[in-house]
Amino acid sequence: MNASVVGSGYVGTTLAACLADLGHDVLAVDVDRDVVDRLNDGDAPIHEPGLQPLLDAYVGSRLEATTEHDRITDTELTFLAVGTPAKDDGSLDAGGLLAAARDVGSAIADTDGYHLVVVKSTVLPDVIESELVPAIESAAGKTDGEEFGVAVNPEFLREGTAVDDFMNPDRIVVGTDGDHRALDLFADLYEPLVAEWEVPVVETGRREAAMIKYASNAFLAAKVSLINDIGNVCKEFGVDTYEVADAMGLDDRIGAKFLASGVGWGGSCFPKDTAALVAAARAVDYNPAMLQAAIDVNDRQPERMLALLDDHVDVAGERVAVLGLSFKPGTDDIRGSRAIPVIEGLQARGAEVVAYDPLAIEAMAAVRPDVEYAESAADALADAVGVCVVTDWPAFEDLDCEFDAMAEPVVVDGRRIIQRREGITYEGLTW
Ligand code: UDX
Repeated sequence: MNASVVGSGYVGTTLAACLADLGHDVLAVDVDRDVVDRLNDGDAPIHEPGLQPLLDAYVGSRLEATTEHDRITDTELTFLAVGTPAKDDGSLDAGGLLAAARDVGSAIADTDGYHLVVVKSTVLPDVIESELVPAIESAAGKTDGEEFGVAVNPEFLREGTAVDDFMNPDRIVVGTDGDHRALDLFADLYEPLVAEWEVPVVETGRREAAMIKYASNAFLAAKVSLINDIGNVCKEFGVDTYEVADAMGLDDRIGAKFLASGVGWGGSCFPKDTAALVAAARAVDYNPAMLQAAIDVNDRQPERMLALLDDHVDVAGERVAVLGLSFKPGTDDIRGSRAIPVIEGLQARGAEVVAYDPLAIEAMAAVRPDVEYAESAADALADAVGVCVVTDWPAFEDLDCEFDAMAEPVVVDGRRIIQRREGITYEGLTW
């Protein structure tokens, strides 16, 4: 079938390339001419394993990019995959999404027949019903559920495994107003995935679909914060949280995933989505105590890491290494990275920070030019009186004699990635 995807950022580009791989003809629409040119040249705009081969295979055949919204009328359905960032108070900024919705509305104003608009962006239920649907209706001069429909189909893609996650989903969530025209389009769209993997398709309402995304991210973020909270208690008792979590994870009701304790969560989703949900709940006079606690625990983990360093060394005026800058391994994304508060805490103590990351130095240097960046982990460690390990890049596991070059080999491991060895003072954050 023919599908268009408005927004060629991380989610939109991955979605467009993966839909092409399912056999569909895909039009990627973006207001940024550079992004469009880059896509049409077959260049992946983001570092995402498996994306470049898909662009190599389909750009110029099943996948095309354009700045012209009007061309979505050549397609049967249009995804809105525009970013929904946070405002300063944590609440959702839906401005870009609503602008894209109006563009789509204008484009379908003069069409005959049904067009389905599918919200892929993470957005709160009320924004869809009270703002997004009316925005399309007024730009199109048409009525929701009659000449066009709006559906919500959230993504659950993790950075670093987004292509794989798209191709092997745990579930596909389809939120509609129950219109069979929308459901039929989804059935055709995802038929190759459903047929191959027997993926459960959850058919639900639009509000529920939007909330499933928030609730899933909130739950996962809270799961990590809970094991971090337990981990902090374990550390005080001299108990190894990883041994505790391994046994907990064998209980089917708990599950083994997202029980890796340490310096906390970051990324483009967990911080933004938990903050937006808290702000939205407060706006209707509900105090989401558990969600707020999950955020608070996460905010405090970097300071716990630094307190462990303080126990061994006074870092004022000294060189301290930070290993890992991305919010998780396999990406150059530093959004919400725990490295940022760790660096700030070290600088507040008067330390000279020298940082290393296999991919994310350029991104961090753009916002933290006051940090020294090393060419390798070994260079970062040389002459440092301590090191904070923030990201679990697999290469850090092999570090060994590199610690010998430290002025004082105090290692605070926030991800349980460093091998303990003779000659270093090792502190695990929660073990
Ligand atoms: C997440 C969701 O997993 C995905 O479904 C959603 O669509 C977007 O947000 P992502 O941000 O790519 O994906 O990262 P994820 O792999 O979930 O990790 C998020 C953060 O939690 C990372 O900082 C990671 O280091 C941390 N984490 C994860 C832990 O600290 N411990 C764990 O056990 C798991």
